[in-house]
Amino acid sequence: MALERVDAAAAMGALAARWRAAGARVGFVPTMGALHAGHRSLIQAARAECDRVVVSVFVNPRQFGPDEDLDRYPRTLDADLRLAGEAGADAAFVPKVEAVYPPGFATTVSVSGLTEGLCGASRPGHFDGVATVVARLFGIVGPCRAYFGQKDYQQVAVVRRMVADLALPVAVVSCPIVREPDGLAMSSRNRYLDADTRRRAAAVPRALEAGAARVAAGEHDPERVLGVMRALLEAAGGRVDYVAAVNAETLRAVARVGMGDVLLVAVRFGGTRLIDNRVLS
Ligand code: PAF
Repeated sequence: MALERVDAAAAMGALAARWRAAGARVGFVPTMGALHAGHRSLIQAARAECDRVVVSVFVNPRQFGPDEDLDRYPRTLDADLRLAGEAGADAAFVPKVEAVYPPGFATTVSVSGLTEGLCGASRPGHFDGVATVVARLFGIVGPCRAYFGQKDYQQVAVVRRMVADLALPVAVVSCPIVREPDGLAMSSRNRYLDADTRRRAAAVPRALEAGAARVAAGEHDPERVLGVMRALLEAAGGRVDYVAAVNAETLRAVARVGMGDVLLVAVRFGGTRLIDNRVLS
């Protein structure tokens, strides 16, 4: 079936309401566009589990800091609509900023605790922007299931917390990270990398692999595990924002790292900030 493009919030809400009234389970994949194979896997997961699938394409200004890449964030709408349709989406919600934040919009959703460390520490306000837009999009679309990539591990934890705390009737589904052949996690921001930086950025999955291998070999001191990871990233020319070993639920640093914990990385290569993670299993 052809993909239906919807720009207005009221029209999106009405379409999803008609589907729900007909008994359909509505799946939702929120995105900022520049879709890639990672997004395709989210849409396919939604397609497999739901009767109707909505993808939103909205570069959310509220989750970018003043010195971040809002203006140059890749915008590839035609290709996005093609990929969304081919992957099985029924509708693409492509709102303008005023449709998401109409005049008078005065609400910020702020999840405390989980947002204080990791990306929250170096991107103040970022997760308020994410939680607010996700809550607003959930309100418009009314999905029963929403799909997010595990690459944004902290984001998924924050959205889950928000959904639980606000008793929103939506199941949050975290889908596995999709990687390039050399292991680099798929990300819309990979487009910023030139050939040399792209090659060096493969140190990110290698660092996670090395950290995981240390733990598997019996090293449980987080400082030592993270030291190995940091050294690999710096040797490749990366500027480390953080390397962390955290509890999978609380996202608090662990004193002893072991199975079930998560290793996370945020690192800059050139002007591009990349994040990745690995759950130890
Ligand atoms: O992960 C993203 O692309 C964004 O943070 C999201 C969830 C679409 C909210 O703008």
